[in-house]
Amino acid sequence: MAVLVAGGAGYIGSHTSIELLEEGYEVVIVDNLCNSNKEVISRIEELTGKKTKFYEIDITDKEKLDIVFKENKIDSVIHFAALKAVGESVTKPLEYYSNNLINTLVLLDLMKENNVKKFVFSSSATVYGDPHTCPILEDFPLSVTNPYGRTKLIIEDMLRDIAKADKTLDIAILRYFNPVGAHKSGRIGEEPNGIPNNLMPYITKVAIGQLKELSVFGDDYNTHDGTGVRDYIHVVDLALGHIKALEKLEQNPGLVTYNLGTGNGYSVLDLVKAFSKASNREVPYKIVERRAGDVAMCYADPSKAELELGWKAKYGIDEMCQDSWKWQSMNPNGYDEKINNEVAVD
Ligand code: NAD
Ligand code: WQD
Repeated sequence: MAVLVAGGAGYIGSHTSIELLEEGYEVVIVDNLCNSNKEVISRIEELTGKKTKFYEIDITDKEKLDIVFKENKIDSVIHFAALKAVGESVTKPLEYYSNNLINTLVLLDLMKENNVKKFVFSSSATVYGDPHTCPILEDFPLSVTNPYGRTKLIIEDMLRDIAKADKTLDIAILRYFNPVGAHKSGRIGEEPNGIPNNLMPYITKVAIGQLKELSVFGDDYNTHDGTGVRDYIHVVDLALGHIKALEKLEQNPGLVTYNLGTGNGYSVLDLVKAFSKASNREVPYKIVERRAGDVAMCYADPSKAELELGWKAKYGIDEMCQDSWKWQSMNPNGYDEKINNEVAVD
């Protein structure tokens, strides 16, 4: 029996596919490569020594996706496929609603038609909006401030309705905090399109000399050093959380929701410092205005996942920085090997 990994060529999906293969699961990846590279598939196979079935398909295309269900014995679906840039979602809301919502509906429809009962959904801490206090528990009020976040909340609401109506379905909603880091090998990692919006990829690009300096968005928040505090989590820990979630779904729990974070909050300047230490490189920065829509503080209480899934993040901030740097320095131009071989990095 196989796991269909929707969006499996992407950052979190590729790391999860590796852990699934290592655990002995059969993996079928479906991705339209709108934010990823086909090279990822060969690297997954290289790292695991196992074959991965890959379909280059847009998940909104029901006819094509149905072939994947018909050609494979799919037992469960992990749904990573989404557009995920918060800023872009504000300028292109229709694309976000259309892609993220329709691809989810198509997946759920085909699961129903093909009698597949287990579904793991990539949600986000963004559904907590501006939390009234930290650490954040799963039953905190939900609210969102941008179209990307709203797609996550709409899908969560939809899943709650669907699970209520069909007791044979088992669904895990996983709310990720801030994924960073990369596979230990340095062969797969995050490859943002253009100038990164997120902090860690921005830092790695400054450290390697592709960007001049980091702009720190505000130093007047009510946090220990005035800069924004987040719960950074190693992507391999996150990947392992999906295995635990699949195991949980074997017990037919109905719909379950978990925070996947470490429970530790680090500020922007904490991360800059930890990264400089891990990479032995300076990260020049300047303080600028706050970024619209940012919250001061966001970190998880991950104890529900520990208690019910037996999952706990094991990598700390130093390993997150070391592995992000290893990926960046071994692949200064991402998955384009031809360019990488021409660039020497010490
Ligand atoms: P990513 O962009 O690297 O991966 C998403 C993958 O989905 C990409 O490979 C993309 O090509 C594919 N995709 C998108 N739409 C598709 C479609 N219609 N058909 C087929 N493939 C499609 O992103 P990621 O960081 O790996 O995120 C994975 C999931 O986790 C997303 O749902 C994202 O919203 C969620 N999430 C990410 C973060 C984060 O900071 N990275 C945090 C919280 C939640
Ligand atoms: C982290 C901190 C910034 C860039 C986003 C999405 C969220 C989730 C994860 C998908 C903040 C500061 C950043 C920079 C900076 N994604 N920063 N200079 O905003 O917590 O979360 O990614 O679901 O939905 O909103 O992550 O990495 O952008 O920012 O000072 O150049 O770094 O202000 O305090 P964020 P981030």
